[in-house]
Amino acid sequence: MYSEKVMDHFSNPRNVGELENASGVGTVGNAKCGDIMRIYLDIDERGMIREARFKTFGCGAAVATSSMATELVKGRTVQEALAVTNKAVMEALDGLPPAKVHCSLLAEEAIHAALWDYAQKNGLVIEGLEKPVDDIEEKQEE
Ligand code: FES
Repeated sequence: MYSEKVMDHFSNPRNVGELENASGVGTVGNAKCGDIMRIYLDIDERGMIREARFKTFGCGAAVATSSMATELVKGRTVQEALAVTNKAVMEALDGLPPAKVHCSLLAEEAIHAALWDYAQKNGLVIEGLEKPVDDIEEKQEE
């Protein structure tokens, strides 16, 4: 049911933890399943993501997508990180079962929330970045 990559990132998640003095922190939940994901980004003065960490209180797919999403944004610019959509995360994991697609949306939204927080703290506007939602369910129902 799950790809080997999903199982690998679930059993051996990369970038677990917090970042002290993170440039941006984003927390997003899904009221329906009760899962919560928090992503921390360390961004240098050129807008390059030096480090990414996560804490996820959630299902195995949420852990695997957080792990892969943080891997995908590390070393990227803020603009490149915006292109790390839930589809990109799922592709990198060789897919997710349909019932677990929403877990990858949590990862996309948590990255956006962390970028939003970074932009707010630095008085920046990141082109293409919309204000994130706290609860992903609101977005799915739109
Ligand atoms: Fe809700 Fe996976 S079941 S994030």
